[in-house]
Amino acid sequence: MARIIGAVASTHVPAIGKAIAEKKQNDPDWKPFFQGCDYVHGWLAREKPDVAVIFYNDHGLNFFLDKLPTFAVGAADEYGNEDEGWGIPVARAVPGDPQLSWHLINALVADDFDITMCQQMLIDHAVTIPMALMWPGEAWPVKIVPVSINTVQHPLPSLARCLSLGRSIGRALQSYPRDLRVMIVGTGGLSHQLDGTRAGFINKDFDQLCMSKIADDPQALTGYSIHDWVELAGAQGVEFLNWMAMRGALTGRVKELHRNYHIPISNTAAATLVLENEDVPAQMAA
Ligand code: DHB
Ligand code: FE
Repeated sequence: MARIIGAVASTHVPAIGKAIAEKKQNDPDWKPFFQGCDYVHGWLAREKPDVAVIFYNDHGLNFFLDKLPTFAVGAADEYGNEDEGWGIPVARAVPGDPQLSWHLINALVADDFDITMCQQMLIDHAVTIPMALMWPGEAWPVKIVPVSINTVQHPLPSLARCLSLGRSIGRALQSYPRDLRVMIVGTGGLSHQLDGTRAGFINKDFDQLCMSKIADDPQALTGYSIHDWVELAGAQGVEFLNWMAMRGALTGRVKELHRNYHIPISNTAAATLVLENEDVPAQMAA
């Protein structure tokens, strides 16, 4: 049976790709951020996931404002990347696991999620930057199932809906008959706003609250509306929806193993989090 080993949440700011390309990991400006990934590397080396289910938001590479699905699930053999104009190297294609993708798609639709299924799908910096952070300088050792959540074109799905989406995927993973070690990834955030008169807005106190609640009490965060979230975390802080879905997919007893928080990377409060998912009988799961 598939086993959900835990999750990594990470910012996906494109400037990180530039810092990696220019080998700036030990520059004083960058070190406090990159050092926060050391724990992640050790955890991945120990846990050896086979597959990563990645909740992220596309920023216009695969979907644009003309057609923007609320939830889209990749079902491709591989996922390419292209130049988005950030001046960062184009990433190598990442292998998919279409068999697992279709299992998840079937389960989601059976659970009344009206998702878009993508047999061709480009992945943008919201997938490639966290992968480059998790597995620096090596061939990425996992297959992926990308799940894109609309955080761009309002109306956005609620925090509760994204938590439920994750839970549905978590249940589907638990019923998957292949022996796979599955990790969950949530990308984006934390607080940031790239546009308008509040450009550069960051809310450290709210970020700390989110990082604490996501492990122990994600339900508490569902009391915030999307409008509350824009006010408290900035227009792009809504990328936290990806973290909500990630947390939902952890079906067992969840423990925070590691947290790093650094202000700012570019315009963004950059956070890295590792959560362990300890298997428990279904009726005891949090
Ligand atoms: C930045 C943050 C993002 O989430 C993104 O998608 C692009 C840029 C930034 O802070 O520069
Ligand atoms: Fe983003």
